[in-house]
Amino acid sequence: MTDTTPTDAEDSTDTNAPYASETESPRIGVCYFPEHWPRERWATDVEQMVEAGIDVVRMGEFSWARLEPERGAFDFEWLDTAVELLGEAGIDVVLCTPTATPPKWLVDDHPSILQEEPDGTPRAFGSRRHYCFNSAVYREETERVVREMADHYAENPHVVGWQTDNEYGCHDTVRCYCDDCASAFREWCRERYDGIDDLNETWGTTFWSQRYGSFEELDPPRHTAAEHHPSRLLDYGRFASDSVVAYNRLQTDLLRAADDDWFVTHNFMGTFSTLDSYDVGEPLEFGTWDSYPTGFAQDRRLGPTTPDRLRAGDPDQVSLNHDLYRGENGFWVMEQQPGDINWPPHSPQPGEGAMRLWAHQAVAHGANAVCYFRWRRCREGQEQYHAGLRRQDGSPDRGYHDARQAATDLADLDLGPVDAPVALLHRYDDCWALSEQPHSPEFDYWGLLGAFYRGLRGRGVQVDVVSPGDTLDDYAAVVAPSLHLADESLADRLGEYVEAGGHLFLGPRSGAKLPGNKLQPTLAPGPLTDLVGGQVDQHESPPETLTTRVTYCGESYDYTTWGEWLDAETATVVGRHDEGVGDGKPAVLEHSTGDGSVAYCGVWPGTDLADALAVALLERAGVAHSERFPETLRVAERDGYTWVLNFGSDPVTVETSGESTATWLVGSETVPPYGVSVAEETSAVDLSVTSE
Ligand code: GLA
Repeated sequence: MTDTTPTDAEDSTDTNAPYASETESPRIGVCYFPEHWPRERWATDVEQMVEAGIDVVRMGEFSWARLEPERGAFDFEWLDTAVELLGEAGIDVVLCTPTATPPKWLVDDHPSILQEEPDGTPRAFGSRRHYCFNSAVYREETERVVREMADHYAENPHVVGWQTDNEYGCHDTVRCYCDDCASAFREWCRERYDGIDDLNETWGTTFWSQRYGSFEELDPPRHTAAEHHPSRLLDYGRFASDSVVAYNRLQTDLLRAADDDWFVTHNFMGTFSTLDSYDVGEPLEFGTWDSYPTGFAQDRRLGPTTPDRLRAGDPDQVSLNHDLYRGENGFWVMEQQPGDINWPPHSPQPGEGAMRLWAHQAVAHGANAVCYFRWRRCREGQEQYHAGLRRQDGSPDRGYHDARQAATDLADLDLGPVDAPVALLHRYDDCWALSEQPHSPEFDYWGLLGAFYRGLRGRGVQVDVVSPGDTLDDYAAVVAPSLHLADESLADRLGEYVEAGGHLFLGPRSGAKLPGNKLQPTLAPGPLTDLVGGQVDQHESPPETLTTRVTYCGESYDYTTWGEWLDAETATVVGRHDEGVGDGKPAVLEHSTGDGSVAYCGVWPGTDLADALAVALLERAGVAHSERFPETLRVAERDGYTWVLNFGSDPVTVETSGESTATWLVGSETVPPYGVSVAEETSAVDLSVTSE
């Protein structure tokens, strides 16, 4: 859940987010590039958008060279015309600041704005994202173009909000290694540490003679013969993310100064690790993200790339991102995959109906708008092999029909927020520290989150993905796949939650390190030891050639990737290794404490173990849950509506149990391949699969 509390509103109802009212019909939109097409076509485009039920459009993110062909010579006329055409047709417009693609004349005037690789190679003009967040020159140029654009559109009745830039950090551009970043990093460290000795102590720089005599000696972690110091890497990752936060704040402040009726958002990326979306999202009315399921199932997957995931994505991977970016004002999908796409290794056609399924999945998880990327397949540039809702000749493509049907399905639903009884804790510091020292080719932070998240979603439970710093009191259960960095204050906060009746579940490698990325002075889980009721005696990262199993509550289960041998002190051993060198060693601990309970799992669970662990936790916490649904069937609930989402290639029939009777608003109890049904007066716990 991205923390997007509006900076100047008393509560979320005062926010500028026009779609964050108590209930609202979800909207279908599209990303439009009028600058790619003859002006004579624009009116037809708008008519066809209206026919499809599209009522919000995003534009302008890559338009700097078109808006300012040479310094100071702004040409807004074309964009004004497009805004007017859309507005007159009743379509709201979201504009973008165009800073993701600085023009060639700007790069020629100021080549210092370019980012650099660790070996000093510049990231040159000729693509996108060719600027450094810490370039003072580029921040001045940003202020100039954003102010010019914002002032031009202030009070325009059709412009309802803005997207800052586009996908900060895409193409691995959060971290830059240029001299501007070097200077900024030294300043960042000077402010963070109480002198250079504090930095040396916190990092532990005696090792390999890595001690610094002054802050001036600090550099970005540029190219080296062997791996970098993990504490230096972690702080550099924190610094780089903070640099994006500061750059984004410059833009949000300028936009709000021009017209404080606008909402301001940004389009984050899926399963993305190098910037902290909680921090970047802080000044935004709500977060948005860009969802490309068949691509994510290949290049950042949470599990095997199955045929169904190539056709409809991994439902839990996509929903994990929905639940991460959902804030108190909901969220948008700012870019929804419209069909075949160009950037993954392979480009399968999505299953029939998948583009409609994805819109429903997003709305079921709290989206207030789903905008397809893009309106029409572009005939030029790097994305010619990327579909739109229309083909390059202007004829409707597969996605157009799906988008239109989704708009029809959703038009009569008045939806409030999602209500989740369980929180899954996610923190970028843990992601960064574990990514630097995974200790196994298979140990991936997002994959570990996915393993536990999948167990919960397989039982029809709604989940908020939140930072450990968020308020946890309202959750019946909290799952922390790995709180790798821990200190006493975190232990105290979690202890208060449990004492008050919360049910906490901790996953492997929790509490192993101090916040500065040094090992705890005690055995893991360090300051969480009293909470867990035991410690970690040994750990191993077994390759797939080693069989690894545990017996948990009398049943035997596979696990992979990571295993710990535990010593129980006050906790009860509920799971033991039952294979290999660690045979008989404790692997899962559990104990009641205060009015709540704590469980600690020292292994990376397979899907069956993750399900068993989830059920045990949900039962301890008194959270209702369904039978275990097949991995390609997911049930999601929002504000009294229940979605049955079929991500598989076979039809599925569900039936309601007991007295409950479902009223089907969309579809029926038989959900076709890559299809969706929506019901009232039922819920996940009432549904069971009768045939697949
Ligand atoms: C990202 C970008 C878009 C476009 C799409 C292609 O989401 O924001 O500009 O490149 O990917 O799928």
